[in-house]
Amino acid sequence: MQLDVFTLVPHAFAWLTEQRPLAAVLGTELDLRLFNYRDTTPLRAGQVDDEPYGGGAGMVLRVDVVAAALETVYGGQPDQRVIAMTPAGRPLGQEVVEELAGERRLTVLSARFEGFDERVVAHLASDAISIGPYVLSNGDLPAMVLVDAIGRLLPGALGSEDSGLHESFSEELERGVEYPHYTRPADFRGWTVPDVLVSGDHARIAQWRRDQSRLRSVGR
Ligand SMILES: C[S@@+](CC[C@H](N)C(=O)[O-])C[C@H]1O[C@@H](n2cnc3c(N)ncnc32)[C@H](O)[C@@H]1O
Repeated sequence: MQLDVFTLVPHAFAWLTEQRPLAAVLGTELDLRLFNYRDTTPLRAGQVDDEPYGGGAGMVLRVDVVAAALETVYGGQPDQRVIAMTPAGRPLGQEVVEELAGERRLTVLSARFEGFDERVVAHLASDAISIGPYVLSNGDLPAMVLVDAIGRLLPGALGSEDSGLHESFSEELERGVEYPHYTRPADFRGWTVPDVLVSGDHARIAQWRRDQSRLRSVGR
């Protein structure tokens, strides 16, 4: 997958790209390209934002700046999905992540300040996505959340092919949350591990895990 992120702080993504599992697929399954709106802004002195029409606090990321960035990279409007990260967007969930992980190419637009000029969302983006009902200071953390969630679904990202299959919100767990995990010691301060997990009975363990997942998912 080629995943292009447009941002004002490309270096913020350095940490993410050093971490597994993303690091494991970079350069193979994932080509992550970072573009800075300031590098292609048609305005002077690297200007990218402006005051809101109608007044009010904060600055707004200009539509001509975002259009110029897309024009420079794609020679026009990209023919792939263009996702604007915004609190007003479609809530991000695992099903959305799976849908996007199936794309060959994707573009992600991050904003700062008060957000995008609405014409970015209306005319330049095909999708708008929110990572949750709260406001962060910029779209870079939301973009990283999206990139990480997609990246770990790409082939080879996770060490074992099936470790992603039984995670929270997967189809295999009926979109519920995962069952609990335990490791050594089996007894710590009298807090013991459920007997079934040390029974060696794989069928019982699988059933216990399904039951636990269902129990924890009730009412969510
Ligand atoms: C300070 S926020 C703007 C918030 C906007 N004024 C509002 O009230 O909805 C700046 C940028 O951060 C990003 N952002 C913040 N919270 C987000 C969220 N929950 N989901 C996706 N993007 C978010 C968006 O790109 C947004 O334009």
